[in-house]
Amino acid sequence: MTDWFESVAEAQRRARKRLPRSVYSALVAGSEEGLTTRDNTDAFAELGFAPHVAGLSDTRGLSTTLMGQPLSFPVMISPTGVQAVHPDGEVAVARAAAARGVSMGLSLFASKPIEEVVAANPQTFFQLHWVGSRELLLHMLYRAEEAGAVGLILTMDWSFSEGRDWGSPVIPERLDARAIVRLAPEVLARPRWLAQWARSGTYPDLTAPNLAEPGKSAPTFFAAYQEWTSTPLPTWEDIAWLREQWDGPFMLKGISRVDDALRAVDAGATAISVSNHGGNNLDGAPASIRVLPTIVEAVGDQVEIAVDGGIRRGSDVAKALALGARAVLIGRAYLWGLAANGQAGVENVLDILRAGLDSAVLGLGHSSVHTLGPSDVVVPVDFARANQLPGLGYPTPIGVRYTEPRG
Ligand SMILES: Cc1cc2nc3c(=O)[nH]c(=O)nc-3n(C[C@H](O)[C@H](O)[C@H](O)COP(=O)(O)O)c2cc1C
Repeated sequence: MTDWFESVAEAQRRARKRLPRSVYSALVAGSEEGLTTRDNTDAFAELGFAPHVAGLSDTRGLSTTLMGQPLSFPVMISPTGVQAVHPDGEVAVARAAAARGVSMGLSLFASKPIEEVVAANPQTFFQLHWVGSRELLLHMLYRAEEAGAVGLILTMDWSFSEGRDWGSPVIPERLDARAIVRLAPEVLARPRWLAQWARSGTYPDLTAPNLAEPGKSAPTFFAAYQEWTSTPLPTWEDIAWLREQWDGPFMLKGISRVDDALRAVDAGATAISVSNHGGNNLDGAPASIRVLPTIVEAVGDQVEIAVDGGIRRGSDVAKALALGARAVLIGRAYLWGLAANGQAGVENVLDILRAGLDSAVLGLGHSSVHTLGPSDVVVPVDFARANQLPGLGYPTPIGVRYTEPRG
């Protein structure tokens, strides 16, 4: 079992070794300086645990539900649009999620059609951006419903930031002769990745099949992106309208402020994901785990709350649950697993997270994830950085145990 790895860090190392530079850098990087991307992981490292040592539970219940879907443990696949890392892309991820009993989030910019992904995992949520026209959005909603999607995710947090200090990856408009010549050096340096595509008899798909207009073929990724960035930005009324068009569960992803969380409740969301798009929105926004407690306190009894950004370990899942999340969504962790070893690599990552969570629940003296709470974590005094200024109306998290910083 040499393909097996024992940490998400190792999956990342293998992804770096296997993928062409542009593909790998698109997976890891955030916008501008990457401050928020870094803070998403740094913030988890700042949180401590308060473990018990005796009277621990022999068995632990890890299962839960999110938006009506059973999860064998409180993790869901977050939608991501860059899955050229592997020929099976979203279908492999969906299969892995189904094999491990968790829900799948499918990006609007996915490389596989929703019908194939739902067939691979019936617990698939379709993720939309506000794009095109109301007619196009309705068409995509009907298609998602027909395909059997169990819910919608509307992603709100993208400010079309162009500046990337690390140099944005070069994504060709189409794989024509010029693009092949330009990309050849970095692709040839990664023969295993190339061989995988050669064996599959396909090449990285640069279209967005789920954004096809009625009766038309799938647009290229670039045409789809352009359509999105030129669409007038949605108002809260638009969001409430979209929500009314869909009967099932509806998540708003990208909430990072209490006032927006309250508006999400007013718009009729079933769930929110506290998120900053993995650091791909406004650089400098605080880690999502920092703002989670205030949002839980404000709307936790009115809407299901998930969080995403920086989850790399099962203990991170335990910390998020202790601070009030019902479940977490993961992004880069499973993309690295996919790059490292396809479907089995994603299963491997899910197994690592599950084992780490189980271990944390054991050490914290619980028999179920549902009893994790603020007293299980040690939170530094300035952890909720976003909320320190007076007069902003942000409540201080209740029940969170603060410790004075050392030194
Ligand atoms: C390469 C990449 C592509 C992404 N594409 C999408 C997308 O198409 N739709 C979306 O809602 N979020 C997208 N996201 C954000 C993720 O869903 C998720 O919020 C983020 O990755 C969580 O942070 P993590 O990667 O640290 O786990 C993307 C993230 C990455 C890294």
